[in-house]
Amino acid sequence: MANTTTLPKGKDGFTVEVMKEEDFDTCLDIAVQAFSTRNKVVMHLKVPRQHLKANFKKDSYESMKQGLALVARDKSNGKLAGFLFNVQQYPWPKPLPKGDPLNPLYDVGDTLYEKAFSENGIGLGAVITGAVLRVGAGGTADGYEGRGVGTLLRSACIPFAKSKKVFRRVWVEPAHGATFHIWTNKLKYHLRSEIKFKDWKPTKPSQIQQYGPDPWKDLDNGSDRIQKIGMCEGVIDEEEGGLRRNCYDKACCYGFMFCALLCKCTCCWKKYTKSADDNVSIFEFDDVITTTAGVDKV
Ligand SMILES: CC(C)(COP(=O)(O)OP(=O)(O)OC[C@H]1O[C@@H](n2cnc3c(N)ncnc32)[C@H](O)[C@@H]1OP(=O)(O)O)[C@@H](O)C(=O)NCCC(=O)NCCS
Repeated sequence: MANTTTLPKGKDGFTVEVMKEEDFDTCLDIAVQAFSTRNKVVMHLKVPRQHLKANFKKDSYESMKQGLALVARDKSNGKLAGFLFNVQQYPWPKPLPKGDPLNPLYDVGDTLYEKAFSENGIGLGAVITGAVLRVGAGGTADGYEGRGVGTLLRSACIPFAKSKKVFRRVWVEPAHGATFHIWTNKLKYHLRSEIKFKDWKPTKPSQIQQYGPDPWKDLDNGSDRIQKIGMCEGVIDEEEGGLRRNCYDKACCYGFMFCALLCKCTCCWKKYTKSADDNVSIFEFDDVITTTAGVDKV
């Protein structure tokens, strides 16, 4: 087997492409394998592979058809090396059914977002109007870890979202040390909120009834890293005033947007549709980050 340190990394070794329908099943398999073997949080919940696959499929198929998902392809052999299941974020996602093994993770996610929404800079107006591209899940295929695939794909998110002309923010909730490092240290996304799993306990009787009072007990056992999840936000054209340029994103509108969120008011919501002239397959972009010498890792 070749020494991975000598193999081409990042943009030298891989192209970023829009996921095609024929790629979708392979990406589901990469996702299931990556999360069942290399994501401590999902492994801790003992989610059966078939269940994980069905969940990824349910959440990502429509977005893939809309041309929002991305893959990284190995230039040397054409194989898929990683993927991102991106979606247009809907402000009121459906809860999982009772008893779903992923419920503790989704419930932590709810607390994470409650904390994030108390952050004034977050793009609440963007999500209410359908202008948030969310990275729902991402993974690197077995054998490709550490070759910059994860960083390359994630570097593409802001330029890719910008190219669609409707998005103003990119949201993501990293729950793996490597992705936390990529989004916050390397790509400088804003960390709007953060929760250490060991500190999170369910508060509702229905949650406790489903999975007990401490679903994350023992998660950190045998590891020198504390598992945590963050809510990260990238702002399109931030340096050119993108944080507040759109009227829905102005600080004075925040209260109205918050009311819309609480009242589930869909008046301002616009569903993304792929435009007829959007035929991008290989996605070229300039600002790729591959190394971070001197940056602290989490
Ligand atoms: C997490 C994952 C996407 C990383 O992909 P990758 O292609 O190996 O990522 P890259 O090679 O671009 O970079 C990894 C970076 O994270 C660092 N890293 C790796 N493991 C880390 C950890 N546990 N904690 C902190 N940093 C870590 C690497 O050193 C590297 O940083 P550097 O470029 O500054 O040296 C991949 O391991 C994976 O698919 N995991 C399983 C699925 C998953 O957990 N997905 C993310 C859910 S949030």
